[in-house]
Amino acid sequence: MTTGPSYSLDLELARYLDAAADLHGALFERPWNRPALEDLLSVSGTDGAAALVSDRTPRFAGFVLFRTLGDFSEILTLAVAPENRRQGIGRLLMEQAVHAARESGAERLVLEVQDGNRSAISLYESLGMTPFDRRRNYYKSGDGSHADAILMQLFLDN
Ligand SMILES: CC(C)(COP(=O)(O)OP(=O)(O)OC[C@H]1O[C@@H](n2cnc3c(N)ncnc32)[C@H](O)[C@@H]1OP(=O)(O)O)[C@@H](O)C(=O)NCCC(=O)NCCS
Repeated sequence: MTTGPSYSLDLELARYLDAAADLHGALFERPWNRPALEDLLSVSGTDGAAALVSDRTPRFAGFVLFRTLGDFSEILTLAVAPENRRQGIGRLLMEQAVHAARESGAERLVLEVQDGNRSAISLYESLGMTPFDRRRNYYKSGDGSHADAILMQLFLDN
């Protein structure tokens, strides 16, 4: 019998900031380096989780960063390494963010996602999130093109 790798979460994202900054830098036009991630995490109400592949030695595979202020929670970023996608890690990270938001007493979770980011939008929809607003031309690419930001929300019945 063969078994694939299994995944786990470490709620101490601070242990993985170098790997998180490398991944963020590889995926996003406006990357957050380690000091930027440290700054974000130092703000009250901000937390995150790292996803680990536990083949033999645990290996960093992705992370989520979120902030809860009062009854409002926001996903700041979500990223899964390309080689580890479509295996449920993004969902696991988002479920942790939803759980943490609920635990903190948030009533609503929001995020913004680039129009056309099919994988992320599908993931958020599968979690019950719905679009509620749009920011025109919010994202600008290196090639000068623009894309809208879609704002999505989930109401948390605690
Ligand atoms: C979006 C992202 C985090 C998804 O991570 P992932 O680990 O691949 O997601 P999961 O395996 O948990 O997928 C969960 C669900 O999301 C949807 N989904 C994920 N990738 C998809 C794709 N390429 N096409 C269509 N649906 C997709 C599916 O509904 C999937 O469920 P299924 O596999 O049972 O069909 C990942 O693609 C990523 O890091 N993208 C680049 C960074 C990014 O865009 N972050 C979001 C910024 S708002």
